[in-house]
Amino acid sequence: AATTSYEAESATISQGVVESNHAGYSGTGFVNYDNLVGSYVQWSVTAPSAGAATIVLRYSNGTTTNRPMDITVNGTVVAAATSFGSTTNWDTWQSKTLTVNLNAGTNTIRATATTANGGPNVDWLSVDAGTTVPPTGP
Ligand code: GCU
Repeated sequence: AATTSYEAESATISQGVVESNHAGYSGTGFVNYDNLVGSYVQWSVTAPSAGAATIVLRYSNGTTTNRPMDITVNGTVVAAATSFGSTTNWDTWQSKTLTVNLNAGTNTIRATATTANGGPNVDWLSVDAGTTVPPTGP
């Protein structure tokens, strides 16, 4: 299945700002979540068919404190308080991989901070959706 990447700076941002003052991001910047519960980034993504998809969130957390986020798909929390631990500094990025179920067509994926520290800095979300069905035998 094909992988599509969606920049955070192009997504819907609630209580966060696009910044570019740390190295290593892709696109034109990253999202710095406001330091509060409920700040989020929301992406509209497409899947060619319904079923399991692998999503990756690229993030940086230059503090020593976990910055958990709820991951919701189409309004339902599918991964509560997912950990986004320290990446040592704000120039270092790591990938958080999750498996979620998507509908065929358009889906909404939201990552919402669950602590007063807000979320980590987020660079992009990638989605690998659609199952390759092996051909049936003769
Ligand atoms: C620093 C850092 C930001 C980060 C913020 C935070 O200000 O430069 O990129 O988002 O800390 O703690 O959230």
